[in-house]
Amino acid sequence: MAITLAFDVYGTLIDTQGVTVLLKSMVGDKAEPFATLWREKQLEYSFRRGLMQNYEDFATCTRQSLEYTCMHHNVSLSESQKQLLMDSYSSLPAFQDVRQALEVLGHSGHRRLAFSNGTHKAVTTVLSNCGLINYFEEVVSVDDLKTFKPNPACYAYFLRSAGSTTDQTWLVSSNPFDVIGALSAGMRAAWVKRSKNALFDPWGIQPTLTVSNLLELVQHPDFSG
Ligand code: 2OP
Repeated sequence: MAITLAFDVYGTLIDTQGVTVLLKSMVGDKAEPFATLWREKQLEYSFRRGLMQNYEDFATCTRQSLEYTCMHHNVSLSESQKQLLMDSYSSLPAFQDVRQALEVLGHSGHRRLAFSNGTHKAVTTVLSNCGLINYFEEVVSVDDLKTFKPNPACYAYFLRSAGSTTDQTWLVSSNPFDVIGALSAGMRAAWVKRSKNALFDPWGIQPTLTVSNLLELVQHPDFSG
């Protein structure tokens, strides 16, 4: 049976910690904690905007969380440095396992779609810049709904856009909140535990499958047929 896979983008296909390379030249030793807080705040801002129904796009969440992170770490970056960091979001690297895994899934006849908080344009650009866009049948952006994951409307929108049903659709994400969101919406969900230290929220809900990277996912019997 052909399966429809909804690939989360940032953190799953694309390494958001990739900003640390540029950050090192700007904030030195603080680069790693800076990148981590920046990402956490970006997501928090998306959750809060979703709850408040006060939508601004994901790039605005990224930009405002960058400002917050500068304040938190007490670093002052010039406007052009901040713009460089924002621009670097379009050329973040893909994780190493992604290309091969997408190829294998294509050979198995499974459907591959990108599914993100990022706008259609932002996601198309970042996936094009790392040479992955052609692996995807479609980019589904929740920007169309003016809200963010894990609003259940986002997962319903994905199913509608893909013309797929819950029993044949898997979300593939490294973000536990996204995995739980998809499971709650009736989809199956694979958690990509990209770091040994990554934790899954103790909500009494388990991922359908946990893998440490996408090559492990494609070897699983559910996907290899
Ligand atoms: C994405 O939607 C949540 O950042 C994640 O791509």
